[in-house]
Amino acid sequence: MKVLSVVGTRPNFVKETLINKEFKNRGVQEVLVHTGQHYDYEMSRVFFQELAIPDPDYHMQVSTGLPGRQTAEIIQSLESIIVEEKPDVTLVYGDVTSTLAAALASVKLNVPVAHVEAGVRTLARYNPEEINRRATDSVSELLLANCQDAYDELVKENHTGSKISLTGDIMQDILLHTVKRFDVPVYRGEYSLCTLHRAENVDNKDNLSAILAGLAASGEKIIFPVHPRTRKRLVEFDLWDQYQNSEAIDFSEPCGYLEFVRLLAGANKVVTDSGGVRRESYILAKPTIVAIDITWFPCLIKSGWKIVAGPNRDKITDAIRNFEPPQEHPVLFGDGRACLKIVDAIVDYFGS
Ligand code: UD1
Ligand code: UDP
Repeated sequence: MKVLSVVGTRPNFVKETLINKEFKNRGVQEVLVHTGQHYDYEMSRVFFQELAIPDPDYHMQVSTGLPGRQTAEIIQSLESIIVEEKPDVTLVYGDVTSTLAAALASVKLNVPVAHVEAGVRTLARYNPEEINRRATDSVSELLLANCQDAYDELVKENHTGSKISLTGDIMQDILLHTVKRFDVPVYRGEYSLCTLHRAENVDNKDNLSAILAGLAASGEKIIFPVHPRTRKRLVEFDLWDQYQNSEAIDFSEPCGYLEFVRLLAGANKVVTDSGGVRRESYILAKPTIVAIDITWFPCLIKSGWKIVAGPNRDKITDAIRNFEPPQEHPVLFGDGRACLKIVDAIVDYFGS
């Protein structure tokens, strides 16, 4: 059987790591396509090197900018690859532009789609990731949910003709594998870690200013690896100069995965608007402060380990100073064997 896996952004590369190795173990042929959506060394190549992901069989170079154009370019380039390769199934991850574009290119050529992280939902209709998730799920034949919330959403939506499977979270698998393999100490250290990149936050000067002011006022040392989109906006909004020499916030380049896991593992608390980092932060038992009002993963709020501060200066400061979760820390993202379950589900459903 032949699987065409499409990746394009930092979180996709992380998720692909173990799946790629498991396909090899099972003798499943995988054709790996990188759309080029993320392209800086720190956003792309470093993950392939550190995580020993093989070079992609096809590496496109889509343009950056407006999402419609990017989507169209990926569809167009991918079409010829699908025609040439004739895969049995296309595998897509998460909720980025590359995910939706690949799903559309595939189904329009009658090649079915398996979607890892299907069923994640928020009520914000015009959030770019929500559009990508809903549209991808609606055309995918195998819907692979990473947690019970997502599975329940899919069941509720009644995806007639598709198979829904609860696999657990592939990001948890690679995180736990990395912590164990490199013997990374997990403890609550003397700094907190921040990541931000959501359009709703970083493209809005008021929101970005409020979040930084909240971080700076907390009195905590903040380590902040800066996503390129965020860096661009910090410079444009004159916030880079204002904060780069401040005692409170330590800006850096985006980290490679291993460095990021070490930083996360040693953090006191985590402030983020990332979908992946909030899960990783929970898994390593860090109190997590979400700096965006749109929420995914209601199970995280229910657990008491995540608080939604939004882009609100005072709420962020207060949460960094005072937020403490309960003792209980339930298992929310599976048993660490999502990779095996995802590959099983794909082979069972599409293998001949
Ligand atoms: C994208 C995803 C988002 C995901 C995030 C993971 C979409 C709509 N958004 O957001 O869901 O959480 O990736 O990190 O797909 N840029 C660079 N170098 C790079 C990559 C990006 O400079 O290697 C800059 C460019 O100016 C680009 C901007 O960042 O225009 C935004 O990149 P894009 O891929 O469109 O969205 P992200 O914010 O990275
Ligand atoms: N990550 C990383 N370096 C960083 C920030 C994040 O390696 O500087 C990893 C992180 O561990 C997680 C993934 O990138 O596995 C999350 O990506 P991001 O937050 O960009 O996207 P999202 O999950 O929000 O789509």
